[in-house]
Formats: sequence, structure tokens, C-alpha cells
Amino acid sequence: MYRDRIRLPSLLNKVMSAADAAALIQDGMTVGMSGFTRAGEAKAVPQALAERAKVSPLKISLMTGASLGNDLDKQLTEAGVLSRRMPFQVDSTLRKAINDGSVMFIDQHLSDTVEQLRNRQIKAVDLAVIECVAITEEGHLILSTSVGNSASFAILAKEVIVEINLAQPLELEGLHDIYIPSYRPTRLPIPVLKPDSRIGSHAVQIDPAKIVGIVISNQPDSHSTVLPPDEETQAIASHLVEFFKSEVRAERLTNSLMPLQAGIGTIANAVMHGLLDSPFHDMTMYSEVLQDSTFDLFDSGKLIFASGSSITLSAAKHDEVFNKLEHYKPQLVLRPQEISNHPEVIRRLGIIGINTALEFDLYGNVNSTHVCGTRMMNGIGGSGDFARNAHLAIFVTKSIAKGGAISSVVPMVSHVDHTEHDVDILVTEQGLADLRGLAPRERARVIIDNCVHPDYREALNAYFAAACKIGGHTPHVLREALSWHINLEETGRMQPL
Ligand code: COA
Repeated sequence: MYRDRIRLPSLLNKVMSAADAAALIQDGMTVGMSGFTRAGEAKAVPQALAERAKVSPLKISLMTGASLGNDLDKQLTEAGVLSRRMPFQVDSTLRKAINDGSVMFIDQHLSDTVEQLRNRQIKAVDLAVIECVAITEEGHLILSTSVGNSASFAILAKEVIVEINLAQPLELEGLHDIYIPSYRPTRLPIPVLKPDSRIGSHAVQIDPAKIVGIVISNQPDSHSTVLPPDEETQAIASHLVEFFKSEVRAERLTNSLMPLQAGIGTIANAVMHGLLDSPFHDMTMYSEVLQDSTFDLFDSGKLIFASGSSITLSAAKHDEVFNKLEHYKPQLVLRPQEISNHPEVIRRLGIIGINTALEFDLYGNVNSTHVCGTRMMNGIGGSGDFARNAHLAIFVTKSIAKGGAISSVVPMVSHVDHTEHDVDILVTEQGLADLRGLAPRERARVIIDNCVHPDYREALNAYFAAACKIGGHTPHVLREALSWHINLEETGRMQPL
């Protein structure tokens, strides 16, 4: 019945129900599941695991590529299954459990998880649960809409459960480029020389004897939840387009720019949309998640190739893209996240990395993860992989949040994900600050003049003036440095109205 999907006949007797497969997961195990930015996650087995845990409680450490769709993190959290979770999530129920301390969350650079696994620096994966579109004649795995950490999980785990998802089209076959770096210290350079370099195989090569169960599922990926561009995100995009134009005039970039990376979320997607209305052409992407904007840029003829680790689309865009997958395929590749995010490759290709900040400070330190320095939002994701190694490390955000109660530009960030040393360009709807070659006092001036919302500009100017009176290379009034955050916690606003 599934011969086009399970092409090694000896594996056909491994087909079982999701409940039977979930029963193979034991209390205390470390489980690696497929899934990256709500794409290509194993679906039936984690759902069955959550059901099982309601009657027969168990706890596991769960690793994935990045976030899961279909409310899986919510279901697993509510069923009490998660003791540890890494390296990224975006679910509000899990977020609550992380912030009340009931789930231990390891917020990690996305390129690093399997490197640590391979080198036995963290607990080994006992079992991998991987969504595939097919298993080849050799017993190798053809992944679905994401690669993420799936290949290394399947290679490193003792046992593998495969979910063959009939809702994922077989046309995905051929899109993946599976390359696993060799062991250190004799590792060879990773031979990605251009965004379209293909350096690996189409399938994940494992010993089929490790496959202990195959579950047939039929459930689509969740759609992305990004909001359409608004006035502010359009303003952010147009500041960036003007900046890129000035880089072209200065002959530091050409009209093809450099390979682009865009982070998750509404703002990054809107910024990429802004490139539709620009003079740039023959652009490429070397990114992680390919969102709606990637395909709009293909359709406009401005983008010629996109390398990513997953495809995550809105409901409106999904069918349009998947009905024409064969048309887009020559322009696309999906790679393991350690390759899409690899520092060596990012530095070599000269990526323009565009990621989103929750807040940044006077000197250009960026907080992308912790609200008021304590409460986890989503995680650092791949933003650090890109920012530290990019040709241009750009962070974007709206200048205010929560109706103006919060300024996204603060005296001192309450948590640091990206230090001032890694950040080149900051953009809000107010304007753009180019920090390259500037000392901290110069950075502060450029940031206040260009990025701060008018409601907060006077207060930030006053803070900077008082700090300069005290002195220092990076002047601060230490007693007041986090006072805006304390105000927010105590009064609901960073500054009085
Ligand atoms: N303090 C508190 N909350 C803030 C805030 C701040 N300084 N700035 C923004 N927010 C809130 C917004 O109000 C919004 O809340 P809501 O969902 O209740 O409306 C939420 O954060 C998301 O902000 P939004 O402005 O809609 O931006 P976004 O959807 O683009 O997400 C991040 C922004 C920072 C949360 C998101 O990009 C992220 O998690 N980044 C880190 C990981 C990353 O960069 N990955 C890229 C490579 S994987």
C-alpha cells in the first residue's frame, strides 16, 4: 500500500500505530524529534505520547531542530511529558512552564546542538522520531519540509521511529542536501562555496536495522502566524533599502547585495517583502527558515536562489507554493541547520543577517530573548550564529511595544544575546543607526538620534548626559541603568506619561 513511500520491502513489517510507537519511548529517555520553525515535525507519535502520559505519566528530555507546530509543545507540556527542552520554542504554554521553572529549557545557538551531541558533551539521544516523505530502497530517509537536526538525530540515536506523512508531497524528494561534518580535530572545510552549492546526499544515510517503528500519518504542517507588513515594518524595510542603496553607491555592495538571511517573525518577513520594491536583482538567500517573502521574491524575479533549513508558509501562501513545487525546486535547497547556520560558511559567504531584537541599548547590545531580563520569550535561535559571523549584522525592531508602555531602546539591556561587538546596524521605524567604526559614545549619539521613539528621546538623552558626566569608555549611571525595566514591572510603563 505504501510501496512508493516505503521502498525497502523488509521494512514494511515495521509499520505500527502511533500508540504502539509512543510505547517505545521510556521514562527518562532523551528523544530527538524532527521539526524546525513549525515545519516537518513528527506529529502522530508526540500526540500519542501526550495521550499516553495522561494515563501513565513519564518524563523525557526533548530536542528538536527549533519550534514545533500543531500545538505539540503545548500538548506535551500539558501532559507533563517535558522535563528538559532544547534548543528553541515559540509556544505560550511551554513558555509559561519554562518561566515558572517546571521545564528546564536550554536556549542554544541552533548550529551547536548536534555538534555537542556528536562530541558527547550532552546526554546522547536514545531515540529519534523523524517525519519523512519516504524511505529509499537502501532504507535511507527522505525528510519532509525541514531538515533541522533530523539527520544527526537519526544518525546518532540508537533507535529511530519514522513517521511517513502522506500529507507531505513526494515532490519534496530531491530538495534536501544532507551533509554531516566529519569529526574534529581532522575535520575538513565545509565545501559550501555559494548559496546553491550542493555538497551532500538527498537522503539521510542510516542503517535500516535501527528503524524500530514506522507510523503512517496524514496531517499537514501548521501555517506560519506572521502578520502582514504594517506602517512601521514598512518604514523599517524602507530604511534598510535606502541603506543598501548607499552601500551600493559606496561600492561596498553590488545590486545583488550579498546572500541574505532573515530571522523568524513578522518584522523580518516584512523587511524581506520590502525588497520587492527595490532596485536590487539576482539576489540570493542563505538563511534558515524560508517564509512567504522568499517565494514572493522568486515570483518577482528578484531572487534567484534560496538555501534554508525549512519552509514555513502562511495559509494563504501554502497551496500556491506546494502546487508549484517542481517550478521552485531548481532554486531551492534545504540543509541541516548546522550547515545553514555554520559560522565557517556564514563568514565565507559574507551573509547579510537580518534578525529581530526585543530591545537594544544605547551602545548596541541586543536582547532578543528575555523580557525584563528574566522571562524567556522564544530563544536565541539562529540569530547569534548569523550575527557574530555576518558581513553585516543587522537588528530590527519597532521603537516601542505594548502601545508605547515599553521603549525598545533602553539605557542598558536587561539581558544580552548579541554584544555590541557583534552588531553593525540597528533599525527601527524611526531610522537606521550605522554603528560600524564607532566608539561607544559615538554609537549612543547615533542610536538616540536615529532609532528612539520621540516619547523616549528626551529621557534617553538625559540618561546619556548624566552617564557622560560620570565618565567611562561606556558611560552608565549604574543605579539607573535598569530603572526603566523596574518602572515597567512596578507601574506598567518604562517612563511616566
Ligand atoms: N519587551 C517586552 N515585549 C516586547 C518587547 C519588549 N522590549 N518588544 C516586543 N515585545 C513583544 C511584542 O509586543 C509582541 O507581543 P504580542 O505577541 O503579545 O503582541 C511580541 O514581543 C513579538 O514582537 P513583534 O514586534 O510582533 O516581533 P516578531 O514577531 O518579529 O518577534 C522576537 C520578535 C524578538 C520575539 C522574535 O523575532 C524572536 O524570538 N527572535 C529571537 C530568535 C531569532 O532571532 N531567530 C532568528 C533566527 S531563528
